[in-house]
Amino acid sequence: MNNSHETLLGQFIETRKELHTPDPQAASDILKAVEKASTKVYEVISRAGLANVLGAVGSENVQGEQVQKLDLFANDQFIDALTSCASVAAILSEENEEIITLNPSGDYLFATDPLDGSSNIDVNISVGTIFSVFKRKKKGTPEKEEFLREGHEQVMAGYVLYGTSTVLIYTCGHGVHAFTLEPSTGEFTLTNEALKTPVDGNIFSINEGNYHTLEKGIQNYIGFCKKLNEKGKRTHTARFMGSLVADFHRNLLKGGIFIYPATADAPEGRLRLLYECNPIAMIAEQAGGMATQGKERLLNRKAKEIHERSPFFTGSKVMMETALRYLDE
Ligand code: AHG
Ligand code: MN
Ligand code: MN
Repeated sequence: MNNSHETLLGQFIETRKELHTPDPQAASDILKAVEKASTKVYEVISRAGLANVLGAVGSENVQGEQVQKLDLFANDQFIDALTSCASVAAILSEENEEIITLNPSGDYLFATDPLDGSSNIDVNISVGTIFSVFKRKKKGTPEKEEFLREGHEQVMAGYVLYGTSTVLIYTCGHGVHAFTLEPSTGEFTLTNEALKTPVDGNIFSINEGNYHTLEKGIQNYIGFCKKLNEKGKRTHTARFMGSLVADFHRNLLKGGIFIYPATADAPEGRLRLLYECNPIAMIAEQAGGMATQGKERLLNRKAKEIHERSPFFTGSKVMMETALRYLDE
């Protein structure tokens, strides 16, 4: 189906430069690299069992987690695509302990979780890619300390969700824009230029396997979500997929709250600040939602380590305000 009014990613950036400041040309370079890499990832994911990318490679990443073949394939696609992107000086990836220098004269830094939801690859559940962009404050050979910024300094954040369709969601700080991949052409078409999340919702997303290790306030909030109404009917519904991108995207569209707090297994939280929490938080806020590390705004947090983790709460404004009240108790 090729209706002529479709707006492709490149056309959107070209005609809506004001949504892509401070540097529309760099935004175009970077997003075209994301389009190229994510299309390659899509092509393999959609044939994962045939393309011999299922399963683990038998090694652990810097996080001490089993690395899946698709983690490394996706990582390679984004590094390759960004290497030919003059704007990007270095990439920080979940899959690489150190940052990788790409184009030292570039003005931007790219942080990414190339494949989010790895535990779901072999069981055919949606996975994603998450990315975050900072503008450099210096020139020359990039250093990892340049990534140790406060989240609100991001100039771009986005994710690709490889689901029933493949969607790209991003923001340059001027609203959230949504695109869908046309697999036959490898091009993303605009589906929503100013996506807003519902101010309230009834979906709560948390891994209750951790319930008995959670702080009391969070246990009490979960109890609140499970209360029945005066007719004896449920007031909320639980949805947790083990893929942050899939859980977040559903809640972004329908309204909801996603919580990955400190747990016994992950006392600092499980999600990584620079390439999971920060980009998702920027999108949440730009869509009218909220994101915190507990009571404090997540985007005010300054990274101290490039792979550091953070507790993460994000979602519809009313649900977040209710949850935060329980944290005060
Ligand atoms: P990744 O596959 O990049 O390591 O990320 C997985 C993350 C996130 O996507 C998801 O919400 C969370 O891990 C699930 O953790 P649990 O399995 O501990 O619930
Ligand atoms: Mn992840
Ligand atoms: Mn990952």
